[in-house]
Amino acid sequence: MSDWSRGYPVDSAYFDTMQPEISPFRWRPALLTARISGPSTRRFRFLELGCGSAHTLIALAACYPEAEFLGIDFMPEHVVRARALIAEIGLTNIRVEEAGFADLAAQRPEARFDYAAMHGVWSWVDAETRGDIVALLGGWLAPGALVYNGYNCAAGWAAAAPIRQIFREAPAGAGDTRYAAAREAVAAWLSYAQNPALDALWQRLSKQSDAFLAHELGAAHGSAVWFTDLAEALEPAKLGFACPCELHEQFDALFLDGARLDLIRRGGEQGWGQTARDLSYNRTFRADLFHRGALRLTTSEMIAELRALRVLGWSREAGFGLLADLPVKDTPVATPEIEARVAELAAEGAHPIGEIVDGLDLDPQRALQTVLVQLIKGNLMAVRDEAEVAAARDGTRAFNTVAKHHLEAGRRILPGLVSPETGGVVIVPKTLQRVGFGLEAGDPAQIDRMQALGLTL
Ligand SMILES: C[S@@+](CC[C@H](N)C(=O)[O-])C[C@H]1O[C@@H](n2cnc3c(N)ncnc32)[C@H](O)[C@@H]1O
Repeated sequence: MSDWSRGYPVDSAYFDTMQPEISPFRWRPALLTARISGPSTRRFRFLELGCGSAHTLIALAACYPEAEFLGIDFMPEHVVRARALIAEIGLTNIRVEEAGFADLAAQRPEARFDYAAMHGVWSWVDAETRGDIVALLGGWLAPGALVYNGYNCAAGWAAAAPIRQIFREAPAGAGDTRYAAAREAVAAWLSYAQNPALDALWQRLSKQSDAFLAHELGAAHGSAVWFTDLAEALEPAKLGFACPCELHEQFDALFLDGARLDLIRRGGEQGWGQTARDLSYNRTFRADLFHRGALRLTTSEMIAELRALRVLGWSREAGFGLLADLPVKDTPVATPEIEARVAELAAEGAHPIGEIVDGLDLDPQRALQTVLVQLIKGNLMAVRDEAEVAAARDGTRAFNTVAKHHLEAGRRILPGLVSPETGGVVIVPKTLQRVGFGLEAGDPAQIDRMQALGLTL
């Protein structure tokens, strides 16, 4: 292991991922509902720490042409891959630099950043590197800035410590069979461990490639973090918790019942609500937003801003889009009649939420809640205003055209495309990408949906 990596597994490059949940516009509904006023979603400076091959950041640069993006990663292979894609698309508002967090913590940027993101970083690095990240955020963020952190959450990983240990200790092979011994040993251990939650976790992990597992399980400092410890660690950078980045995380009653909701209520009253939530969901991953002195919205400001957000009629059946992956329970604010009425009001193009709220025969507060539940259920999709969409058309088209070229040339297929409408990555299965690119025939309703998000070419 080399000195510069501090235990991070740098012998194999990370694969090219795209994280749809990283997007300033996508964070708006969650932030507004939590009454936090975030930075502009149009003109801003955005920093990603540990960006890997920066495919998410590059997608964002394509969507936000008036913003500036900087990605940092200490593995040169990642930087080379990122720069190749940037050049292929022809973007000029993004740079990806090879640097370690410690180097940057000692410097100051030419201008401070309004957003910072790190995904799969905090729970993969040692304590000293976390200290560097906090120092960096402390010196590089502007007042009012927002930080996204996606990290392994201790609640769902606590019982999985033996899996990590086996991956660290079982002899590693070469190439494709690198973790064969570890994989077999984990399966053997689980056959008598009698832990259904762990079985489910391993079922998910065992399908992943060795390159993924090297970073997920093989990192010497790989761990999982309790929310409270993270929140305390970020305090010196003057960061406070805003909310989880996804709107549905503020609506536990849509997903849980009985004893779990009781634990969350109790935790909330006693000041440990997020930990209670993580335990109730047996959560293995969290994606949180922290803010640096952001303004709080009053109730009427929150309602006004939510009413101004535009939404598009959508359908869970589409199989792509920005959906909560948990099944949503029945609720009196989403009866079939109400859903049919919302669909009618949201037909044909985008509408401000306020227009749909006013068209429902419900009291205004209940009507607003109804619309938010429809967003969570995937029957509505939040979209940016017309000027922002128009400004993003060229960049997103250039990105999606490169994705098409990769697909046609049989090169690595990008897992997602970018939408000028939603201002971020949309994960689109390969077959549907082919349909959207006009390479094969498909269901006209799916083509319409892809067109509505600006994903067709
Ligand atoms: C698990 S990968 C996640 C990559 C990307 N954020 C994603 O979600 O696909 C963690 C990334 O952090 C980078 N990294 C780890 N320690 C670092 C450090 N001290 N300085 C800079 N980059 C670092 C690694 O090179 C790697 O690309």
